[in-house]
Amino acid sequence: MSKKIVLITGASNEIGKETALELAKGNYQLIIHGRNPERTKAVYDEIIALGNHDVSMITADFSLLSEVAKFADKVKAQVGHLDVLYNNAGGQFGEERELTSEGHEKTFAINMLAPFLLTKLLLPLLEKSASARIVTQSSESYQSADPILDDIELENHYSFGAAYGLSKLYVWWIMREFAEHLKENNVQNVTVNTVEPGTALSTGLQRISGEIPEMQKLMDEYQQYSWSIPDAAATGLYMITSSDVEGVSGKFYGDKKEKEIDSKWYSENGQEQIWNYCNQATEKYL
Ligand SMILES: NC(=O)c1ccc[n+]([C@@H]2O[C@H](COP(=O)([O-])OP(=O)(O)OC[C@H]3O[C@@H](n4cnc5c(N)ncnc54)[C@H](OP(=O)(O)O)[C@@H]3O)[C@@H](O)[C@H]2O)c1
Repeated sequence: MSKKIVLITGASNEIGKETALELAKGNYQLIIHGRNPERTKAVYDEIIALGNHDVSMITADFSLLSEVAKFADKVKAQVGHLDVLYNNAGGQFGEERELTSEGHEKTFAINMLAPFLLTKLLLPLLEKSASARIVTQSSESYQSADPILDDIELENHYSFGAAYGLSKLYVWWIMREFAEHLKENNVQNVTVNTVEPGTALSTGLQRISGEIPEMQKLMDEYQQYSWSIPDAAATGLYMITSSDVEGVSGKFYGDKKEKEIDSKWYSENGQEQIWNYCNQATEKYL
């Protein structure tokens, strides 16, 4: 059987790296992405050392849509189809609202606009697979989110927690919308699901946010309950590999089980607004 081709974003560290190394032991061809070239190359070398030579690496800074678009072009130049897109890359930032050079709030750009644009640009490759899966990393932090749809990039309501939680809520809405569009267009060979990994403290995610005193306190308190990296990678791996979820689409998974999202964190109108906003923001690259 030919190898499934899996693209993992944010494979240079922790959850994404664990996912890449696990898949490398199986019948998978991997394209690994990271922002930092040295960290990404180190994972590439580990995969080769495992005996899997079907691996390539592409680095890109996903805070910039222009970089995401160039990255998608490089993927298209490498493979004729794609079986799995795992949107895992993500970031969490500090107390000050930061803008990218393209004018977007940084958390929103990396956690929301990048997976939106990458998914859009790579859909034609995924549709060429006999059976493709799009899996996107969210977070239980969506539960701290209170949507502010007239200030989507938090110009007047920024806090690092709100920016992170909202990016992880909106990315779930967007993935639902992708699933709905595929269904409406009778595309049956591509599924779209969202996952949350539990809580693995002290990954690179807290590099910047971990300097905030309230975050430090929270991390100290919860350290004892922290999940291991293999446990945090398990649900994503399950959604990528398991035959149990063949054909399942538009769902949210955690701990390898489907999770019901309380209706207070869902709004059809909100989902439509975020979808339209993302389309406008990325228009130049579509
Ligand atoms: N750890 C948790 O408890 C937890 C909980 C809920 C959700 N999550 C989500 O799980 C995913 C993985 O998190 P993690 O804990 O493994 O964090 P991590 O150790 O910081 O890994 C994040 C990955 O995303 C990449 N990345 C970050 N910013 C980027 C950018 N601007 N452009 C391109 N790539 C970028 C990183 O690349 P570099 O190595 O090059 O920086 C790294 O490969 C994230 O989406 C995160 O939000 C994690």
